[in-house]
Amino acid sequence: MVKVDLSHALLKGNVLDHQSEVTRIHEMIHNRTGRGNDYLGWLDWADTYDKDEFARIKVAAQRIQDQADVLLVCGIGGSYLGARAAIEMLQGPYPKNNLEIIYVGNTFSSTAIVRILDYIKDKRVALNVISKSGTTTETALAFRLIRQFMEEKYGEAEAATRIYATTDAEKGLLKPLADEKGYETFVIPDDIGGRFSVITPVGLLPIAAAGISIDDFMQGVKDATFELNNPALESNPAYVYGTVRNMLYNDGKAVEMFVSYETHLVYLAEWWKQLFAESEGKEGKGLLPASVNFSTDLHSLGQFIQDGTKNIFETVVLIDNPMEDTTVPTEANDLDQMNYLAGKSLNWINEKAFEGTLEAHEITGGVPNIILSIEKADAYHFGYLVYFYFKALAMSAYMLDVNPFDQPGVEVYKKNMFRLLGK
Ligand code: PA5
Repeated sequence: MVKVDLSHALLKGNVLDHQSEVTRIHEMIHNRTGRGNDYLGWLDWADTYDKDEFARIKVAAQRIQDQADVLLVCGIGGSYLGARAAIEMLQGPYPKNNLEIIYVGNTFSSTAIVRILDYIKDKRVALNVISKSGTTTETALAFRLIRQFMEEKYGEAEAATRIYATTDAEKGLLKPLADEKGYETFVIPDDIGGRFSVITPVGLLPIAAAGISIDDFMQGVKDATFELNNPALESNPAYVYGTVRNMLYNDGKAVEMFVSYETHLVYLAEWWKQLFAESEGKEGKGLLPASVNFSTDLHSLGQFIQDGTKNIFETVVLIDNPMEDTTVPTEANDLDQMNYLAGKSLNWINEKAFEGTLEAHEITGGVPNIILSIEKADAYHFGYLVYFYFKALAMSAYMLDVNPFDQPGVEVYKKNMFRLLGK
């Protein structure tokens, strides 16, 4: 489960005073009567997902592990951030398994693309291309280059056994291409938008290939679906978080800063930023979702949070039990004067950094802090956490009176770019 601690949130009112609005929006979500309700497939996905396809994902993941040293995950935005968030959070830094995962198709950087092609040239490679539309330029371009590289390296027939396509069941350009080439395909459901798609084959295949239990992941999603299906603020932490975000927004805050003290949560923050920015940032409204990783960024952005414009609140994501820990060794001459920490665990020191920062930001700086915590970084808790965020987001965006499930703003740059590219 996800615990929400509001004791440092500096709230001006009582969150429970919002119960009637929360109940109204809860009914709107569950009766599918709100704006964008065609995209609520994630709501009961834990019960409705295709079990045969789920089994096929496990088989494909095993095959990828057998046939490749490197899995290229080719997608952008909702078609890659969830998988990357899960894999980085759950494996931790310098993962101990044998399959290296490289994310491609998420940039036009010629340097990045050329360097990756060079890096993989002598490695055994598999590719999961993920695109609902098949027309996303960054992804389609990288896919063309890598597809040609793989066809030259392996021949067309073997390349086809190493390429897996996750896309729309019928629409778009990728499905016909995959069928023509004979790739195994997985379906992105029509009623689940990109930023919610980590719980579908979009996230499941790369996550399973990375050696993470997708059974545990889906169990977390399922338990959250059940436990967060309740309008009462007293027993629904997702709605509490969604409501408090809105209270702080209405109190003049413009930025929500996602804070973590673990480097392996950086991509969870990237995924979270997409979820909230694309869902809420519209019609001239919404909190800007930003992120920092402490204590690293206490030596840079920390200055602004402590002392700069007072339009920020922080949401700290804590993991109760770290993946790894060790103690500080003693040294006889203590030249670096670190002996005062000898015998202490690194995680204990990290906790003190958090407590000291919380006091500095909240008490000295007047910056509200919401604290979310999960027990550990495992597949179950990741599944629970993403569903928690989905539910909090739906509540928060409907409170803001925007459609949480569209993203009209992202088309504007594409139109200009296509004109300049002569499309
Ligand atoms: O959330 C979204 O809708 C976007 O981030 C898309 O996932 C992203 O643009 C990729 O689109 P597609 O899967 O069609 O390539």
